[in-house]
Amino acid sequence: MKAISIGMLGLGTVGSGVVTIIENHQDKLMHQVGCPIKIKKILVNNINKPRAVEIPQELLTTNANEILEDPEIDVVIEVMGGVDHTKGYLLKALQQKKHVVTANKDLMAVYGTELHTVAAENGCDLFYEASVAGGIPILRSLVDGLASDRILKMMGIVNGTTNFILTKMTKQGAAYAEVLKEAQELGFAEADPTSDVGGLDAARKMTILATLGFSMKVDLDDVKVQGITQITEDDLKYAKQLGYTMKLLGIASRDEDDKVEVSVQPTLLPENHPLASVNDEYNAVYVFGDAVGETMFYGPGAGSLPTATSVVSDLVGVIKNMRLGVNGRSAVTPQYPKKLKSADEIFSKYFLRLHVYDEVGTFADITGIFSKHKVSFEKILQMPLKRKETAEIVLVTHHASLKDYEEILNELKDLPAVKEIKCSYRVERGERG
Ligand code: HSE
Repeated sequence: MKAISIGMLGLGTVGSGVVTIIENHQDKLMHQVGCPIKIKKILVNNINKPRAVEIPQELLTTNANEILEDPEIDVVIEVMGGVDHTKGYLLKALQQKKHVVTANKDLMAVYGTELHTVAAENGCDLFYEASVAGGIPILRSLVDGLASDRILKMMGIVNGTTNFILTKMTKQGAAYAEVLKEAQELGFAEADPTSDVGGLDAARKMTILATLGFSMKVDLDDVKVQGITQITEDDLKYAKQLGYTMKLLGIASRDEDDKVEVSVQPTLLPENHPLASVNDEYNAVYVFGDAVGETMFYGPGAGSLPTATSVVSDLVGVIKNMRLGVNGRSAVTPQYPKKLKSADEIFSKYFLRLHVYDEVGTFADITGIFSKHKVSFEKILQMPLKRKETAEIVLVTHHASLKDYEEILNELKDLPAVKEIKCSYRVERGERG
């Protein structure tokens, strides 16, 4: 049977993995799709650069049009990254009736709807499994595996860099800056780690997960984002003392009225929660469905071969659709209009560390503020600090609305007995709560 020709945009870490998998798994791929897969052209910046894979030089080009305008190329695989420039290439590929597989979460989180529309108009597939949690087949699990269920909540450790940093800080009792440096030396963290440690990378992935999982167009701007740069060894020490583990967690939840909340923030999980044991650079997505209950998808969130596995599996999906003549029908039109929860509809527990003046009445003043907002405590620790006149109070609340909790924090800031609010983190237990 005639070979399927593909063009690749990019031959970096993921691109090299794609070439390797297509070469090493030829027999399996041939069995799945019923024809050979031929890489016809690869767009690179520099043809003479040494590569991680052996590639005949005539396959390389610095001219994207040799791929985008080649009528023999059926599928374009985009693994070069970037947003505006890359979007132009993908729009052109789709307009030329080429199916597109991309690993690009930055692009899909912002321009996913537009690209889907153009793909559907041209009868083309647009797949992007590798854009969220690298090697974990989470998008297909949400759209196909859990198609019969109503997803109520997703919690994701979807950034490997920050999970690596938090794991090391927790296990070694080390400071953030020290561990970040180690992560950069080991190649786990980028030279400019801003979008990872600031939570933006995870927010982009949560935008994609929420849009697919809730069948609702969620935008990146809807995601409330907080990163990990302010976390201290003391925060982690006291959290551990109360039985919690810190993770940078993407949380997406929906209520009975199909109102949703999507956020990314450092979050404390009970040590026995399945996500609490997802360590180092690994990723995991916990999905709670109305019928299925708890599920969890675990694996490598980045890396050459893991990410390329998702890319090539998407390619298999495209070719199977070509055989069946059903390309371009996979874009899921959102079932629900966007409805976001307001701050009085988002409920959670909170962990709070305060430094207070150790005087008569201090504790009563603090509890007075909480009781005014009808928020009670689940756990409390109080310890004297080295400077005798001050004490450390660590507490965990019962469920409170975000609105009440933010008001409580503002009132605590103004309380003369409170010297400093050291930190405040969301606490999750999973399922609906
Ligand atoms: N910078 C990302 C991470 C890579 O650390 O998880 C995968 O998107």
